Amino acid sequence: MTLGPKVPPVIAIDGPSASGKGTIAAAVAQRLGFHYLDSGALYRIVGFVGGERRVNLDSDSEITDITLNLKVKFNGDRVFVDAREVSDQIRGEVAGAAASRVAALPGVRRALMSLQHGFRQPPGLVADGRDMGSVVFPDAQLKIYLTATAEERARRRHKQLMEKDSGASMAALLQDIRDRDFRDSNRATAPLLKCTDATEIDTTGMPVADVVAQVLYLYQKQQNPQ
Ligand code: DC
Repeated sequence: MTLGPKVPPVIAIDGPSASGKGTIAAAVAQRLGFHYLDSGALYRIVGFVGGERRVNLDSDSEITDITLNLKVKFNGDRVFVDAREVSDQIRGEVAGAAASRVAALPGVRRALMSLQHGFRQPPGLVADGRDMGSVVFPDAQLKIYLTATAEERARRRHKQLMEKDSGASMAALLQDIRDRDFRDSNRATAPLLKCTDATEIDTTGMPVADVVAQVLYLYQKQQNPQ
């Protein structure tokens, strides 16, 4: 029997909008010295560029064509498209809603696959999104499914937006989160779901440090089974 070359380990962190995935995944990556993939940023970039070019965001062929021709670069939490920085633009609610639409297109998901696989570099990767454990890295060493109630997620998003001086009512944010949950969970291709081999962590009311510690503990346990 021949063993293939050792592929770098992956920790896949999936979950709904504003469940804290980004914060937790980035902190875990930092603690382990691993690379970090924010896959939502890729869908946000595609949604943002499609909107900017006034392309129909439900047209699989047109949006896939844009996706295949994008040159994306990450530098820490800064994001560049074709050498232009779009970090702030892609974080807004408009790009988020556009992302949720283009994320339903099978051609776009396929087009982003090899880009995402490219992040799996030594010594390892922490990837966050909706389908990291189910589709993109099904062989991940550890799969986490992070949740929190819709109300808690709306509160977190509200706090984030207030810090940026960008106003949005709690009621509107809660509705937006519910709409996005519905779209992400009910699309035909790679819907948001908890894999049977994922560990669920409900982060409602949990401090970030505790969630990070729990993920690190689960990873160490996976690496050194007794
Ligand atoms: O995690 P986020 O809010 O930045 O994601 C933006 C949108 O992209 C969200 O509506 C779901 C979608 N998405 C996805 O379908 N698959 C991923 N792996 C990541 C995000």
